[in-house]
Amino acid sequence: MTAMPKPGAMPDPMVPRRFRVRKAWDEIDGVATMELDPVDGPQIAFQPGQFNMLYAFGVGEIAVSISGDAARADTLTHTTRAVGAVSTAITRLKAGDMVGVRGPFGSAWPIAEQEGRHIVFVAGGLGLAPLRPAIYHVLNNRDRYAGFTLVYGARSPSELVFADEVKDWKSRFDTEIEVTVDHAAPGWTGHVGVVTTWLDKTLLTVDPATVSAFMCGPEIMMRFSAASLANAGVAAERQFVSLERNMKCAIGFCGHCQYGADFICRDGPVFRYDAVAARLKLKEF
Ligand SMILES: Cc1cc2nc3c(=O)[nH]c(=O)nc-3n(C[C@H](O)[C@H](O)[C@H](O)COP(=O)(O)OP(=O)(O)OC[C@H]3O[C@@H](n4cnc5c(N)ncnc54)[C@H](O)[C@@H]3O)c2cc1C
Ligand code: FES
Repeated sequence: MTAMPKPGAMPDPMVPRRFRVRKAWDEIDGVATMELDPVDGPQIAFQPGQFNMLYAFGVGEIAVSISGDAARADTLTHTTRAVGAVSTAITRLKAGDMVGVRGPFGSAWPIAEQEGRHIVFVAGGLGLAPLRPAIYHVLNNRDRYAGFTLVYGARSPSELVFADEVKDWKSRFDTEIEVTVDHAAPGWTGHVGVVTTWLDKTLLTVDPATVSAFMCGPEIMMRFSAASLANAGVAAERQFVSLERNMKCAIGFCGHCQYGADFICRDGPVFRYDAVAARLKLKEF
């Protein structure tokens, strides 16, 4: 018989643990990445696609996806854009500063279930951060997948995150990577145009029956990308998206992140596209 834990022995999912910033750096203007070490207890183990609640002491708490490699047990990585008070405080943390962490929470990219298939990642802007752990998983286990494609778009070249790393991925012989911007800038020699233009082109070169697609970015980008995938013949049940909504408890308790019949924190953030497609067509308010 399984022994029951003593009352109080289970960690309270509402109580943040203290983590110390080991390293922090700016990715692009207003977006920073940090690596965290636990002050007490073990490092957080997570699955690609999951998120933590990060608490900036005295300011507040927000949901942020884990952007590092799940196979690296020694570090916890988050990449955050400054949009309001809490996210700005998080992006300003420096090595040695403390941050509260609760998690990991939510569903994961079902990447291991897609072994043997051609994986197509579609990322828009900072949407590359929640996808990055799944990308690492495929690249670390590349022989288990039939193909690797990443189509990554941003508004301008200065808004491309992880640009050097994307170049490294592109230099491998076993990846296909298309990077595009909506508006070029002096010195930009890459693609110009929306993500779906390059997604459509790349889908002409693969067998759609073998494709599993993972998308993260603005909802309009995910909707149009899903339409491109469907037009090319990629099965609806092989398309996955990650959604964001305002969160408070992150444990399916407060109702803040309710999305139709689902709570994004508990049932998401990763969903099969056909499970949320009808709701994505509704205007947000
Ligand atoms: C599951 C999940 C994963 C997330 N992962 C990440 C991540 O990896 N990196 C990251 O930077 N953020 C991520 N977010 C978004 C992050 O939680 C919000 O940016 C944050 O809550 C904003 O809080 P704030 O107090 O700084 O700003 P607020 O005061 O709450 O908002 C300031 C302004 O920014 C707008 N805003 C809020 N959220 C966003 C957003 N996501 N995009 C654009 N504008 C927004 C608000 O409407 C408001 O106008 C994630 C959210 C969820 C639910
Ligand atoms: S954040 Fe409370 S139910 Fe999801």
